[in-house]
Amino acid sequence: MPPTQKKIMLSAVQPSHLLTLGNYLGALRNWVKLQDDYTCLFFAVDLHALTVKQDPKKLREQTYLALATYIATGIRPETATLFIQSHVPEHAELAWILNCFIYMGELSRMTQFKEKSARQGQAISAGLLTYPALMASDILLYQTHLVPVGEDQKQHIEITRDIAIRMNHIYEVSLFTVPEIYTPPVGARIMSLQNPMCKMSKSDPDSNSAIYLTDTNDQILKKLKKAVTDSGSEITLDDQKPGIQNLLQIQAALSEKTPSEIVSEHTGKQYGHLKIKTAEKIIETIGPIRDRTLELMTHKDYLHSIFQAGAKHARERAQKTLAHVYDQVGLIKGRY
Ligand code: TRP
Repeated sequence: MPPTQKKIMLSAVQPSHLLTLGNYLGALRNWVKLQDDYTCLFFAVDLHALTVKQDPKKLREQTYLALATYIATGIRPETATLFIQSHVPEHAELAWILNCFIYMGELSRMTQFKEKSARQGQAISAGLLTYPALMASDILLYQTHLVPVGEDQKQHIEITRDIAIRMNHIYEVSLFTVPEIYTPPVGARIMSLQNPMCKMSKSDPDSNSAIYLTDTNDQILKKLKKAVTDSGSEITLDDQKPGIQNLLQIQAALSEKTPSEIVSEHTGKQYGHLKIKTAEKIIETIGPIRDRTLELMTHKDYLHSIFQAGAKHARERAQKTLAHVYDQVGLIKGRY
């Protein structure tokens, strides 16, 4: 399909922590497949990361790492636009306008705000509350059609749609395309290795609960050996065995097989065997991605050339939307 007729797809991750196997199987791997069918923009939302306390050095490193990981997993900078959110100032500018069209009630009802602010205790930044306005800005700036994100981000996409519809209605013009959430045909929900009832999360304080995409082979093997399993000893597909289910899911997702095929590969074997096999499978896929990521991290000039070209390309689109919005809401066009 000619590039101009392709739908626009956009997604991002927060570089607030190291990326995990869950991010790879749930997001990055799908992005690689989608890049030829859509006009894609993928970026690292460093401004969003600031809504909770960050170590400046770590944030910078994790932002480089996120983009390096995108490239290492197979996202081609010549095909998809890769950039850093703060390099395109229109994100923060449109976010301000959107903040003036979102209601306090809508923001304070967001599940993510309620959960994160409960964890923060007293020092809750206003940024944490207005987070959805910045995310809506990320999406609406590019007249995005589809946003591939996990279940936990559904509410943020809904509020983005609400703002788009509201502003299009108020100004009686099409300021924004109303985006839709994109759910991949085969999604993988990877759970914590220490508590298989919770999602594997990059922000989990227990580093044994997640496989980071930068883990060494040794670390991967150790974490799998420590993974929480269930009572009994038989490897079966059983809801009462969430730990075993998770390992089967991980192996299935990595080998593009079904969990029951993985079960039959393990008949008569013990849990320990499943753990080792799962570790091997992870190492087989993640190992080369990690090596390429770390190699790219030694070529920061190359990474900068990608960010720069990506931001330039993204800005061309973003500026058009922002200029239209500024004009419609009644700001005087600058002539500089
Ligand atoms: N809120 C998303 C998350 O935590 C990250 C994000 C920010 C995002 N802006 C976005 C995702 C725009 C998709 C599109 O995962």
